[in-house]
Amino acid sequence: MGTTISEDVEGIFMSGNSTLLQLHGVSKVFSRGTIDEVRALDNARLDVRAEDFITVIGSNGAGKTTLLNVIAGIFPPERGGKIIINGKDIANLSEHRHAQYVGRVYQDPHIGTAAKMTIAENMSLAILRGQARGLRIAITKRRRELFRAALAPLGLGLEDRLTASVGTLSGGQRQALALVMATISKPSLLLLDEHTATLDPKTARIVLELTEMIVTRDKMTTIMVTHNMELALRYGNRLIMMHKGRIIVDLNHEQRRDLTVGDLVTAFERASGEQFADDTVLLSTAEFKAGQQSCD
Ligand SMILES: Nc1ncnc2c1ncn2[C@@H]1O[C@H](COP(=O)(O)OP(=O)(O)O)[C@@H](O)[C@H]1O
Ligand SMILES: [Mg+2]
Repeated sequence: MGTTISEDVEGIFMSGNSTLLQLHGVSKVFSRGTIDEVRALDNARLDVRAEDFITVIGSNGAGKTTLLNVIAGIFPPERGGKIIINGKDIANLSEHRHAQYVGRVYQDPHIGTAAKMTIAENMSLAILRGQARGLRIAITKRRRELFRAALAPLGLGLEDRLTASVGTLSGGQRQALALVMATISKPSLLLLDEHTATLDPKTARIVLELTEMIVTRDKMTTIMVTHNMELALRYGNRLIMMHKGRIIVDLNHEQRRDLTVGDLVTAFERASGEQFADDTVLLSTAEFKAGQQSCD
C-alpha cells in the first residue's frame, strides 16, 4: 500500500539508474555581512540519477551558475552543505579534484578553450585535467588517433585540423571542441552553462544537436543551463526551474512532455508567487524559432 500504479511503473523504469549526485542543504552567500550580501543558493536540494539529462532555467541571478560552480568545486558551499557523487561527499575537495568527476562547458568559448594552442594541445590538456599534475603533454601518434576519433563524429572536419590553432575556429566550432574536451575523459557529470548563448541561432542549434548526440552516445549524466525555455523543453529528460537560489519546479519526462513555453511561465509564476519578468528569456525563444525556420 501507499504507492500508486504509476509510481510502481516509474520505480521499474528508474531501477537501473541509481542516484549519481545528491545536493543536500547547499547554500552560498556572497559578501556576507555587507550591504551587498546575496544568498545565491538557498538550501538547494537535488537528486540526480545516472543518465539524467536535466535542463535548468530561471531568471537572471537565480543562482544557476552558482549551482554549477559549487558542483564543480570552484568554491565550497556554506558549512553543512553536502555534494555527494557516487556516494562520496566532495563538497570540500579542491576544484582540481572535482575535475575527476565533472566536465564543463561555459557560455564563453574563450573560457573553455585556449586560442593560442592547437586543437591537439587543447585536447591533451583536457585529457590531463583531473589526473596527476606535472605530466608531460606528449602528443603521441596514439593520442592523435584518439583525438581524430573523438572529433570525427562532430562532422565539422576538425579531425583534419589537429595542428590548427583554436583561435582560427568559429565560435560554434570552438564550443563543439569544448564539448568533446569536457567529455573525453568520461567524467561522471557534464555541466553546461548556457553554452550556446553567444552563438547565432542556427549554430546554436547545431551545437545543441551535437550535445544531444554526445550525451546520448556516452550516456552522460548532464545538467544544462539554458536561457531559452523552448530549448529547456526540447532537450533532456527532466527540467528544473530556479528562483532566488532555490529549485522551485522539478519536472520529470512525463510531466514536461506536452508542456508549452506558456505552461512553463505559468508553472514558474505559481511556484514563485511572482510574475515571470525576464524578457531576454522570452525574446531568445522567439530568436530560436526564427533560427529553426532558417534551418529547415
Ligand atoms: N563570485 C560572486 N561574487 C559575488 N556575487 C556573486 C558571485 N557569483 C554570483 N553572485 C551573485 O549571486 C547571484 C546568483 O548569481 P548566478 O548564480 O550567476 O545567477 P544566474 O546564473 O542564475 O544568472 C546573483 O545575485 C549574482 O550577482
Ligand atoms: Mg549564469
